[in-house]
Amino acid sequence: MKKLFAAVLMSSAVGAWADAAPEQYQSSCFACHSTGAAGAPKTHDQAAWEPRMAKGMPALVESVKKGLNAMPPTGMCSTCTDEQYTALIEFMASPAPTN
Ligand code: HEC
Repeated sequence: MKKLFAAVLMSSAVGAWADAAPEQYQSSCFACHSTGAAGAPKTHDQAAWEPRMAKGMPALVESVKKGLNAMPPTGMCSTCTDEQYTALIEFMASPAPTN
């Protein structure tokens, strides 16, 4: 019974993970944030994101729009809206799926 419960929990976590990545992630932010290229805070590395999130979401969205050091303005998503940037940032700062 316990095993079954764990299996159900695991598959729902994997499902949430697949659904969670916003559409634009693979085509833009992923290029740098998946590997931490050029000092980018890595996706799901909460320790790296914590001090960034402390600035507040509006400041982070501004950083992406204007660019920040090695990050080009718009983060390679020239069509993203503020809402989409917010979803992308929340996704990257979220904990890694456990499995
Ligand atoms: C070309 C590489 C690159 C791409 C593409 C990229 N980033 Fe970044 N990003 C970086 C780097 C490098 C930093 C660290 C900048 C620094 O603090 O020096 C960063 C930092 C950030 C930060 C923290 C800003 C702050 O004020 O501390 C946010 C938020 C962010 N990126 C969001 C995004 C989003 C959303 C996307 C996709 C739309 C994206 N990035 C695409 C390289 C990239």
